[in-house]
Amino acid sequence: MNDATITAVTGHRRWDSRGRPTVEAVVTTTSGTGRALAPAGASTGSGEALDLRDGGDRFDGLDVTTAVSNISERIAPALIGLDAADQTTVDAALESLDPSVGFSELGGNAVVAVSLANAHAAAASRGEPLWRTVLGPGVEIAGTVALPVPEIQIFGGGAHAHRRIDIQDLMVVPRGATTFAQALDWTAEIYRAAGRWMDDRGLRMGVADEGGWWPALDTNQQALDALTAAIEAAGLEPVTQVGIALDIAASQFGRNGRYRLGREERELDTAAMIDLLVSWVDRYPIVSVEDPVAEDDPAGMAAFTAATGERIQVVGDDFLVTDADRVARAAEDRSANTVLIKPNQAGTLTRARAALDAAHARGLQTIVSARSGETEDVSVAHLAVGWGSNGVKVGSITRGERTAKWNEMLRIEESLGDRARGLRR
Ligand code: PGA
Ligand code: ZN
Repeated sequence: MNDATITAVTGHRRWDSRGRPTVEAVVTTTSGTGRALAPAGASTGSGEALDLRDGGDRFDGLDVTTAVSNISERIAPALIGLDAADQTTVDAALESLDPSVGFSELGGNAVVAVSLANAHAAAASRGEPLWRTVLGPGVEIAGTVALPVPEIQIFGGGAHAHRRIDIQDLMVVPRGATTFAQALDWTAEIYRAAGRWMDDRGLRMGVADEGGWWPALDTNQQALDALTAAIEAAGLEPVTQVGIALDIAASQFGRNGRYRLGREERELDTAAMIDLLVSWVDRYPIVSVEDPVAEDDPAGMAAFTAATGERIQVVGDDFLVTDADRVARAAEDRSANTVLIKPNQAGTLTRARAALDAAHARGLQTIVSARSGETEDVSVAHLAVGWGSNGVKVGSITRGERTAKWNEMLRIEESLGDRARGLRR
């Protein structure tokens, strides 16, 4: 193997898909260079690694010059001389530089960019794709690799669409597809059918932050009707071929056991909120629900999981924030059966990987996920494949920062050739 001693680490200011500054890191070794960009959420969990912003007037206070300079001035001296192939040691160096909760000094955005760039540098120095460098146990079976099932957004709502509807994400899960390529073909037909459904009613109004339709609808249920109709109009069978996944992102409109549905002008308590969601699960071809209640309500999460967890994925995002300890507790309490894995919630790849391993070790499923603020960076596609997550979620089938990831998944599937084993179940 090539020597991969780190010789330089640099930070750079770049732009994300919402026109906000973001952090890029470049890690150079004696035998290869890696580059990565930090994503950013809009509906962030309170336990996430800190997204360090400058504050002040410029760009609504969202500039990242401090996070960028932290890379060159503070992180670089600590990493130069380490072996990029040893991700754990590199990540441990980042942790000892900033032992605060959530990397509040260096910035989680600086840390995740460096951690990812290091993994890319290690892959480059080995002359192999990132997914293979991070290959986890059990991913490759007899030389074949199964790919994660995609969750792809058709309608955006919540914080990604000026709260037009309360549900943040209405997605399809093309679980019956035999290849990743076919999963995307089906989704593209559903996306078109959903657009036609809205055109026919004079409702189409542009796209939300992750590329899904921004629906000019008045109720959440209308969006569920539209999505179910679009799956059928595309000639696909609900549930068996294509299921619906919802990200309620309930922390955005609920806390202390009260949930305020915006346009419907209703306020629900936890029990009523759960009843409403269960009635949707009963009535629509829903196979996955993320953050059904707020992050401050583990008992509500457990009640929803008890009611539906045998039938569907109950996914913890804001609730678990890619944290191994929280995942272990959720497994114990049965307050979720699936864990969303967002590297920038954790900060380092080692911590994100620990959350994923904690889930798999306890029989929970995982979905590797991008953020609503993204770039051309394709790292999450590689992590989803190499880490053996059950699902992968990167937004809709439109907009370059989304298709960058889907297209990378297609390239990975093609590169596997006969060794591609379809989608993970
Ligand atoms: P975010 O949304 O990136 O704005 O947090 C994505 C999600 O909630 O899954
Ligand atoms: Zn979410």
